[in-house]
Parts: sequence; C-alpha cells; structure tokens
Amino acid sequence: MKILVIGSGGREHALCWALKKSPLIETLICAPGNGGIEEIAEIAPIKVEDIDGILAFCKEKAVDFVVVGPEAPLVEGLVDRLTEAGIKSFGPTAAAAALEGSKGFMKDLCQEFDIPTAAYQRFDNAEDAKKYLATQDLPIVIKADGLAAGKGVIIAATIDEAEATIDEIFSGLFGSAGAEIVIEEFMTGEEASFFVLTDGENILPLATAQDHKAVGEGDTGPNTGGMGAYSPAPVMTEEMITATIDQIIKPTVRAMKSRGAPFTGVLYAGLMITDKGPRLIEYNVRFGDPECQVLCARLDSDLLPALMATADGTLDQASLDWKADRALNVVMAANGYPGSYEKNTVINGLDKAAAIEDVVVFHAGTKREGGKVLATGGRVLGITAIGKTVKHAQEKAYSGVRAIQWPEGFSRSDIGWRAVMREEQDNK
Ligand code: AMP
Ligand code: GLY
Repeated sequence: MKILVIGSGGREHALCWALKKSPLIETLICAPGNGGIEEIAEIAPIKVEDIDGILAFCKEKAVDFVVVGPEAPLVEGLVDRLTEAGIKSFGPTAAAAALEGSKGFMKDLCQEFDIPTAAYQRFDNAEDAKKYLATQDLPIVIKADGLAAGKGVIIAATIDEAEATIDEIFSGLFGSAGAEIVIEEFMTGEEASFFVLTDGENILPLATAQDHKAVGEGDTGPNTGGMGAYSPAPVMTEEMITATIDQIIKPTVRAMKSRGAPFTGVLYAGLMITDKGPRLIEYNVRFGDPECQVLCARLDSDLLPALMATADGTLDQASLDWKADRALNVVMAANGYPGSYEKNTVINGLDKAAAIEDVVVFHAGTKREGGKVLATGGRVLGITAIGKTVKHAQEKAYSGVRAIQWPEGFSRSDIGWRAVMREEQDNK
C-alpha cells in the first residue's frame, strides 16, 4: 500500500517510524516532513494547509491511505475533502474536529452530556466577560475559542491581569480565534493525556502518557507544546482509566454520533486528575506531541491495521499490544522557545545519539542542507528511549541528549521526575 502521512513534527516522525515497520506498506510518503523523516520516507513538499495540493497529490500518486497528524488541516476539512474524492484517511471530519477547533463547542457538549469539566461561560464581548469575571474566584482561566497554536490559554492570577487578557484577546491577540472566549474555573491536580482510537462507535484505548508542558525545571514558567513525556502515566491507574472511559470518552463518542458528527480518528483527552476523579481540560483531535513519540516507542504491534480499522468502522476487531518497557522523551528546543529563537543553527552528534541502545532521535523542527542538519523550529528534537523502569529510560534519553552538540538549544533536565519519584517510593 501507498501511505501518505501529513505533518512535519516529532509526532509525524514517530508515526512514520512506527508505520515503516508495517509489512503492508510498500511506499511511505510524508508531506512536508522534516530532516529526520526524509531518512525513512519519501518527501512530498506540500504544506499541511494546502488541501488542494494534498488532494491533487493523492490522486496523481494513487495514495491508498492518508494519516493526518496536525489539527489545523482537520479543522479545515481535509478529511471531508479526501472522503469526497474517494480517498481513505485517518482523522475526524471538520464537524467532529470542532471538539478541538472550538473550545465553546466542546464545553457546551460537556455541559449537555454531563461530562466532568471546569465550570465555564462563553463570551463574545469584553463587557459581559468582565462582569462575569467579577463574580469568580482567582486564579481564573481565559481561553480563545479557536485554534491559537497552543498559546490561546491564559491563567490569570489577578483581576487586573484577567481584564487585560480579555481586552487583548478581543483586540485581536489571536486573530479570529479570539472572536469568542471561554472563561473557566481553575482546576488543580495532576495532568495526564489519554488517547483512544475511535471509529465513531467503538473505542480502542491506547497506552497512557503524561507530558511536561512548562518550559522550566520543576514544571515552572510559561507553557509550551510539551518539553518531554513518558509512558505509562503512573497517575492513570486502572480505576482512573475506567472512570475516564465511562465518564468522559464514551459519553463524548455517543454525543458526537447523536449530533450527526461521529468522531473518527484519535481522540486525545487532556485530563486533570483531581481528588474527585478525572476532569476534562480539553479535547484534541490528533495525537499529542511529544506523547506520540513515547507511545510509538512502546508500541508492539503493526500500527497501520488499527488506523485503517478506525477509518473503516471495524475497530471492534482491532487490537494493539504494548511493550512492558517504560518510554521517556526529552525535547530539545531552540534557546528562547516558547518565545522568539534563532533559526538555521547547526546540530551535530545526531548519529552518536541514535547509536545508543534503546534510543531513537525523532526530529521535529529540522531540515537537511549541504550535508548538515539545521534547526528550523522551536521544538527541534525528541530524544526518546525505552527502559525497564522510567529511571532507566530517563538515563538513556539523557545520554542521547548529551551526545548531541547544539549550543543554540536546551532541554529540561528533570523530565519524568514525578514518575521516577513514584518508582523510588514504590521500591522502598
Ligand atoms: P489547553 O490548551 O486547554 O489544554 O490548556 C493548556 C494548559 O493550560 C493545560 O494543559 C493546563 O495546564 C492549563 N489549563 C487549561 N485549562 C485549565 C483549567 N481549567 N484549570 C487549570 N489549568 C488549566
Ligand atoms: N503535548 C501536548 C499537545 O500535543 O497538545
């Protein structure tokens, strides 16, 4: 089969790396890919937002199956267009992708179907938003309704900060994504990422994972797309998984079907594990990144049949096996990220890192030029390792990080600290 993966991040490198092992695949293509993906897949230089270009390519090359990585083309209707053209794909329709594309849509759905989440209100003007704000406790969470490249969530500690945020968003800070806002209760607890494949009716839960969102050591500083991740997530006990499936995932899948927009693809619930059990922070309609990298590292089955069963509506007949090993990923990002950073700096030592046993280096923002690998993005590499314990996986991932020479980049030194601490406590 001829498979096209859409995207250019660490997530897509990990998906290509997993798919590459499938005996069912003759040709693996990625659009637009990156400096790491080009070593294992053919590259089609088409931007993810170029839906017409992707369609034309699929027709010309007779692509059998498209796996869509990022949310933006899903929200824009890539899967709808592919389906109209008779091309099979993995991912939700635009109507179903509204679970990520509109926070207001997702919150209203939760309210209607009793799915545990933070209390909230939606607003389309600053005046009403501020009136509501005055009645709420602090800190408070303010979110742009639409897609804002992971930056649309502000946690305000004071009324002044919250009011300034509301004014900024309605003045166009996030463009049209901020035409509406959601103001919601601040929840406390430990976060976890929970992924299921669903064909609109059946669900297949994946292994659990947790990421580190904050840029700084000890989970401090501004939020990023994720500075590292590990799998499994110790906080996701059997009991917590069951509660999440019964209270959050299944009602959502049923609700989307009853609304005439069945969700197919990977549904990613960002959870807050609170004293009262799991509560939904947000939905994403794609794999998390870097979570996808640790999931792929632990996967012990052919990924393709499960993705195809998701698209075909036969997920009840699919299964996935996972290694008992733990996986841990350390993101290397350009100095300055998540703020501004320099581009086209040279990265050395990649082969040395990749040669370490149980270590795989996934590329995110890189390109190859003149025999060199250059950094082109904020998050640039994901050094991923497996080991018998999280501690072992952590040691191997950091030996990979140390093998890489890239003075213009940085990583956190404490990825996995909570899980390692739990392991140490369990061993006492
Ligand atoms: P989101 O894009 O909605 O996942 O939000 C990004 C991050 O903001 C989450 O991963 C949380 O760390 C934080 N966050 C969002 N909503 C809340 C909330 N209601 N309470 C506490 N933290 C939140
Ligand atoms: N790692 C968080 C995300 O992919 O949204």
